[in-house]
Amino acid sequence: HIPVMAEELVSGLNIKRGDVIIDMTFGAGGHTKFIMENYKHCKVIALDRDEKAFEIAQDLSKKFKGRIIPLLGKFSELDKLLSENGIVENSLNAALLDAGCSSMQFDQPERGFSLVRDGPLDMRMDGNRSEGQITAADVVNNLDEEELTEIIYKYGDERNARNISSSIIENRPISTTLELARVVSMAFSQTSDVFRVDSLGRRCHIATKTFMAIRIFVNDELNEICHGIKTSEKYLMNGGKMGVITFHSLEDRVVKRMLKQIEISKPFNVKMGVGKRSKTERRYWKREQSLLLPSGEEIEQNPRSRSAKLRIATRCRDG
Ligand SMILES: C[S@@+](CC[C@H](N)C(=O)[O-])C[C@H]1O[C@@H](n2cnc3c(N)ncnc32)[C@H](O)[C@@H]1O
Repeated sequence: HIPVMAEELVSGLNIKRGDVIIDMTFGAGGHTKFIMENYKHCKVIALDRDEKAFEIAQDLSKKFKGRIIPLLGKFSELDKLLSENGIVENSLNAALLDAGCSSMQFDQPERGFSLVRDGPLDMRMDGNRSEGQITAADVVNNLDEEELTEIIYKYGDERNARNISSSIIENRPISTTLELARVVSMAFSQTSDVFRVDSLGRRCHIATKTFMAIRIFVNDELNEICHGIKTSEKYLMNGGKMGVITFHSLEDRVVKRMLKQIEISKPFNVKMGVGKRSKTERRYWKREQSLLLPSGEEIEQNPRSRSAKLRIATRCRDG
């Protein structure tokens, strides 16, 4: 597994001997391993909401004895998890957040994220961990046309949202990922070609944006990012660094606003909402370079990095 923008990320985080870092999106452990191997005296608190990722973190913690603290939970549970583990506010040197799904999640058809390999319509990063959490099947089979259109349009940036949601309504119940991909493609006039070229010139399945929208909704991903940045704000020490990697513009917009302290009262409306930061409010973050992108070489070696955007900010507590 190749971690995205690892060099740029760790250099932006300015990691030093003895630092304690939180990897808020452990995944397959790519970034954590990179830190373990390159910064011998650091510790990493490794969070992920996915049980499989947590198991990998537990295994890795045996290899790097005393240097990895695995935590199972999501960003909105992190504050509680940290205090339960004796981590105090204002104490961490750096935090990193590599948003979205892991390739591991996409590659397991039974998790229901894949639109090329069939699986149940699930998409919960938490798996069965949180009882009662809605699945992708609940979303496509129960919401009304207006609600589906809104989700697909706003979270997927999909202009054909209305036709897609009416195709879903006509063809439900839908129970598998390939079924959903087929129903979505029926909403496009030239259904013979299920691929189209996206804004970055990549060939994408016609249902990619719809799948992304439903996934974001099921996992409440944008609200979660807000929680993640808020919790880092609390636990990073003065001068501590936060690095965030996002993969699409909606995520990046939320990150940018959070770091600029623009209040997002209704994340569902991030596209439309105009937030304001009052002039008198204290600044919690100082931003470094505005935006870092992967090198051409990295994109060639790891095409998944192509849409990545990295933002680095410094926690400032005195002014
Ligand atoms: C892009 S992957 C991270 C890959 C990792 N940096 C690596 O190099 O292996 C994102 C991971 O973050 C986790 N994740 C996403 N949202 C989360 C949240 N709100 N709380 C905790 N973990 C989350 C996902 O389960 C997934 O494993």
